Amino acid sequence: MKDKTTIPKLQKKKQLGEKITMLTAYDYPTAQVLDQAGIDILLVGDSLGMVILGYENTLPVTMDEMIHHTKAVCLGRQRALVVGDMPFLSFHLSVTETVRNAGRFIKEAGAEAVKLEWIADAAEKTKALVDAGISVMGHIGLTPQMIHQMGGFNVQGRSADEAQRLLEEARRLEEAGAFSIVLEGVPAEVAREITQNIGIPTIGIGAGPDCDGQVLVTHDLLGLNPGKPPKFVKEYAHLRQQITDAIDHFKHDVEDGGFPSEEYWYK
Ligand code: KIV
Repeated sequence: MKDKTTIPKLQKKKQLGEKITMLTAYDYPTAQVLDQAGIDILLVGDSLGMVILGYENTLPVTMDEMIHHTKAVCLGRQRALVVGDMPFLSFHLSVTETVRNAGRFIKEAGAEAVKLEWIADAAEKTKALVDAGISVMGHIGLTPQMIHQMGGFNVQGRSADEAQRLLEEARRLEEAGAFSIVLEGVPAEVAREITQNIGIPTIGIGAGPDCDGQVLVTHDLLGLNPGKPPKFVKEYAHLRQQITDAIDHFKHDVEDGGFPSEEYWYK
């Protein structure tokens, strides 16, 4: 397909200063809508655990859950690049297990790449995956799988030392062969510095305007979650309210005998 998103095309976008768009998708119809809207990358994030499965955080998400949803997303997309997110403990043990798990996203589900949150040997694991022919997106800054060490979903990289550490992590991932890096929950200035000092595209979430691209959780931007969204989320719609209104309407229609009316029954 002519306008298929490829990794070289994403690289080219960074060089040309064209912004990259990435959104989460966990199912077939959402993948179709995002793909047809021209979103470059569909991320089957492990946010699946919280957004779709109702877990308290992303830690319980399993490989089988990720593969199940990634398959559906791959079936719904034609041109976007699909990235499967490696869940907690799927890349923390041996290199062999990391390659086997990452390979499932490609071989069983049909994804083109995987994403790894930063851990101490993330660069080594990235290199092993790239050597095995698996494309890797890194993820640094606020890494939700570290929720207990971070003490919550807190902005990272506020001190000069932490900012320097993040830049080093980004450089190590680039050297290891990652094709892109998610910068999550870092001050805009730190994200700008990293973006200007590495050759691969950065994709920001809560990381200001200077990243090479932006990602949001689709349910957040559609206003599907209850309560006030975090500061970095712009709600482009308020679908939770619209869905609630539609369901209320159906309920009252059925209870009052308004549905089904003649046009909705067979003769
Ligand atoms: O799991 C996810 O959805 C993510 C994005 C927020 C980057 O990692």
